[in-house]
Amino acid sequence: MTNHNINFDEDLAMLEYYQAVGVNLAVEEKTIDRFADAKNNIENHKENNKQHTTPENKANISNIISQKKISQENVPQENITQQAKDLARSAKNLSELEELMKGFDGCTLKKRATQIVFCDGNPKSDIMIIGEAPSRDDDIEGKPFVGRSGQLLDRMLKAIGLDRSKVYITNIVAWRPPGNRNPTASEIASCLPFLHRQIELIKPKIILTLGAPAAHTIFSCKTPISKLRGKWQQFELNNLSIKTLDNLSIKTLATFHPTFLLRQPAQKAQAWQDLLTLKTALDELTNNA
Ligand code: URA
Repeated sequence: MTNHNINFDEDLAMLEYYQAVGVNLAVEEKTIDRFADAKNNIENHKENNKQHTTPENKANISNIISQKKISQENVPQENITQQAKDLARSAKNLSELEELMKGFDGCTLKKRATQIVFCDGNPKSDIMIIGEAPSRDDDIEGKPFVGRSGQLLDRMLKAIGLDRSKVYITNIVAWRPPGNRNPTASEIASCLPFLHRQIELIKPKIILTLGAPAAHTIFSCKTPISKLRGKWQQFELNNLSIKTLDNLSIKTLATFHPTFLLRQPAQKAQAWQDLLTLKTALDELTNNA
């Protein structure tokens, strides 16, 4: 089996698949005729055993996998983050930023995702909504919040007179985590400069974060979402040590994530209070305009 076009990720995925189905010997290019006469077969088998069942060869596939993983993991997170910062900072507008992010390989989520899920809504909006990560449906559609939690988000927005034409929606990571798990710290760190640059390019007057991971990322804290939600805080973009970024201070409100509200409908009452808080601030913006 020779396919010189197989790339690194396919190669690694194939090896992981072999390992999962119990293949623990490295095979060679030349196939062995298992139906040859019994004597040859036994001889071949003995020969194969001699060649392949040494402890070194038995560990072969596992070693190849771990070496490949190590070679990826070897790149320190600071370098990946720096690369992301350099790319993000060079983007003059949102479409350039999206293209640069598409070409960025520093976030490991990209390997398993169907496509980037960059944003939805109105880039000219005063309101930026930041969720956690694309779901399965979003990954397929290439748009944030199109699944069940997105439908609830749409209803929440409608309840205060908003819809997707009046808000800008994005996430802390732009690729779907496998199995919809939470993104890891390094996955978030790799995507964060692109989120910061989006904030700088959009310059929203208000940010609404959905759920704990988004609030923790924006506020750089680990305070439980039950304590963070419903209170205005200032998000200071000048604290981000990205030197070319503008100094921005943006009114930011955290609330529960729609997925959490689907699981815990009793918490919708508190989320409603948060939406009313948001609506009051939006009305003030409109009145002061
Ligand atoms: N879809 C998104 O785009 N973000 C979330 O946080 C959840 C679902």
